[in-house]
Amino acid sequence: MEHLINQHVRGIEISGIRKFFNLVAQYEDVISLTIGQPDFPTPTHVKTAGIQAIQDNQTSYTHNAGIPELRKAAASFVEKKYGLNYNPDSEIIVSTGASQGIDITFRTILEPGTEVILPGPVYPGYEPIIKLCGATPVYVDTRETDFLLNAELLEKHITEKTRCIVLPYPSNPTGATLSKDELHKVATLLEDKNIFVMSDEIYSELVFNGEHSSIATLPGMKKKTIVINGVSKSHSMTGWRIGLVFGPEYLMKQMLKVHQYNVSCATSISQYAALEALTIGSNDAEPMKVQYQERMEYVYERLVKLGLEVVKPNGAFYLFPSIKKYNLSSFDFALKMVEEAGVAVVPGSAFSPLGEGYVRISYAYTMETLELAMDRMEAFLETI
Ligand SMILES: Cc1ncc(COP(=O)(O)O)c(C=O)c1O
Repeated sequence: MEHLINQHVRGIEISGIRKFFNLVAQYEDVISLTIGQPDFPTPTHVKTAGIQAIQDNQTSYTHNAGIPELRKAAASFVEKKYGLNYNPDSEIIVSTGASQGIDITFRTILEPGTEVILPGPVYPGYEPIIKLCGATPVYVDTRETDFLLNAELLEKHITEKTRCIVLPYPSNPTGATLSKDELHKVATLLEDKNIFVMSDEIYSELVFNGEHSSIATLPGMKKKTIVINGVSKSHSMTGWRIGLVFGPEYLMKQMLKVHQYNVSCATSISQYAALEALTIGSNDAEPMKVQYQERMEYVYERLVKLGLEVVKPNGAFYLFPSIKKYNLSSFDFALKMVEEAGVAVVPGSAFSPLGEGYVRISYAYTMETLELAMDRMEAFLETI
């Protein structure tokens, strides 16, 4: 019967991050720098709001698009922070994590035969959904441009079939952020083109220098852009599963149908916790960001001292050094480091073929853990 399973499903693979994570779990005394989530607990007042929601019996289905108070809070949050303008009644959907927001976006706009442009190396959550839609991912190589997409590179990859461009900044796995200037150039390139942009801004609260900019704020772009955000990374709420999707009304009206038949609504209890996060806790990410930046500076300096080529990140909580000089595949390098030094990082190949030759180091760990991991890594690199 296996041959009767949807060919697109058979064709996709479990994420390389997860595969490596499972492999590492078999080894003892390993310091793992593989995780893609904050190491801080969800802020206490947010947890309390979740508990209160249960006590108040907020445990039934909500509006498909999410509770109106949360959509209002989300509109006001992105307006104040990033200058985005969305109507909470018709232009916002509360999703089950950013992941489900990505899923319903692609399923609303893609058709077999269409293409989606992705700057690689890139977060591995896009390609499988694109393929499930029968569409084709088209990678733009950003290895020579400090992992940044630019209008010139983009233009070379646009075809008649291009339906969507993904702008995943701040980036997982590289920590790169796109400047407003560059976003302007991209917006100008897209001015006369009927192409959607999916701007995944899940790390928007974790930009170290300068302000986060969204392409949806630029002239003519709102009507073509779907902004993905949420509270997973900003408020250390990955398990609560609350994402936010922002887009023009004509599109959100269609997307809401996909969302409705997919999950009905996001978890009611988590929605109340997210409401607290985006209102009273609107600046909760600040103290975490200060710590991420300190840790980033530390690990970055250590990598530079070890002679590794690495682009200094400006956001998120990852570093993506090149390990090409060791003449090992990123998988073999990472496995060897687990076996011989007891430090786990994610092979770059998990982030599209363009990630080969790199590894992703997450610094969402305490300084003590990072220090120990870097000492072990230093000793390991001397041996290979
Ligand atoms: C770039 C990017 N987008 C989306 C997600 C998914 O976020 P969520 O946990 O809210 O589904 C992640 C998670 O690692 C991510 O790194």
